[in-house]
Amino acid sequence: MSLPTTQTLPAVNQRHKKDFGPIATPERLLLGPGPSNAHPTVLNALSRPPIGHLDPLYVDLMAEVQELLRYAWQTDNRLTLPMSGTGSAAMEATIANCVEPGETVLVAVKGYFGNRLKDMADRYGANVKTIEKSWGEAFSLEELEAALISVKPSILAIVHAETSTGVCQPMHGIGDLCRKHNCLLLLDTVTSLGGVPLFIDEWRVDLAYSCSQKGLSCPPGLGPFTMGPRAESKLSQRKGKVPNWYLDVSLLNKYWGSDRVYHHTAPVNMNFGIREALRLLAQEGLENSWERHKINAEKLWSGFESLGLELHVPEELRLPTLTTLRIPKGVDGKAFALHLLNSHGIEIGGGLGDLAGKVWRIGLMGYNSTSENVNKVLNLFETELPRFRGTDS
Ligand SMILES: Cc1ncc(COP(=O)(O)O)c(C=O)c1O
Repeated sequence: MSLPTTQTLPAVNQRHKKDFGPIATPERLLLGPGPSNAHPTVLNALSRPPIGHLDPLYVDLMAEVQELLRYAWQTDNRLTLPMSGTGSAAMEATIANCVEPGETVLVAVKGYFGNRLKDMADRYGANVKTIEKSWGEAFSLEELEAALISVKPSILAIVHAETSTGVCQPMHGIGDLCRKHNCLLLLDTVTSLGGVPLFIDEWRVDLAYSCSQKGLSCPPGLGPFTMGPRAESKLSQRKGKVPNWYLDVSLLNKYWGSDRVYHHTAPVNMNFGIREALRLLAQEGLENSWERHKINAEKLWSGFESLGLELHVPEELRLPTLTTLRIPKGVDGKAFALHLLNSHGIEIGGGLGDLAGKVWRIGLMGYNSTSENVNKVLNLFETELPRFRGTDS
């Protein structure tokens, strides 16, 4: 049988072919809950020509990223790497690798992201139990211990820096409680890494994850992940396979560990970016970065209070990276945020979940935590907000 010499192809459908111009995104100052602006050096790194994901030079760079992540997190964990994906991918990796169906997971929920952890653990077949606090509060050690005693979970999951509320969960003693009650401690550090004191080993955290786009001053796209020896041993004793191929740390470690075997094509440019972001953080020094975030946040808080505005979280629990400011009565919070964006190129966030319509969320994260940015925000609240106040306020 002879093959046809010319193939008849259908006519190309032109319906979706549009003559768009080249991309032209505006410059914005991102002072919301994230992403935050990337450092210019990081942007330069991102735009370097890609190299192969098994190129020996790239393999060296991977090791540098891992080492700098260990520094940023203050951990010696061998399994420390950036997941390809955003913070939620790394969040899912903690659950996918360490939860087996039917096992009890206790989630301490005090905001939107605690609920996301609960949803994820549920999807992986865990018997999920929760303890809850209202949005703007943190858990005490006594509350956590009472729940550990009654629920007897194999994992306690909690958010360190709750971006939906602006609360920083005090961590002292939680890791010890988890050891005492024989469970792993899983910590969300998405809005704390780089900007807020964080000591994974000292605090006896077994599993943690973060993101690239906040305190690290890199665009979104990578989810730092770390797993301590207790969690690693749990992973090695799993009865079944990790039910998520892409996020399976035992497979990923064949690429990130000494074997260097292909798993998936790494987003090499994102790793150039995070390598630079982490290098800049190390150059500044963690203590200096934490101090800078604290000083700028305190200046923002006292500035808002001088304007007669009310902060949602009591001072001792406030996150330096994310401030929740109550929207005054009579003000259309959405309209004001839109005005800042359209007329001044500044993004601030609105409330999520229980706090929707009640607060603005203002981020001072990484590269954006500067005194100049604080002045800009305070100045705009002072000069522009009065026009948005209703007659009843
Ligand atoms: C506390 C917290 N956890 C998890 C996430 C999810 O990260 P991502 O949006 O990068 O997937 C976020 C996002 O802002 C967050 O603030």
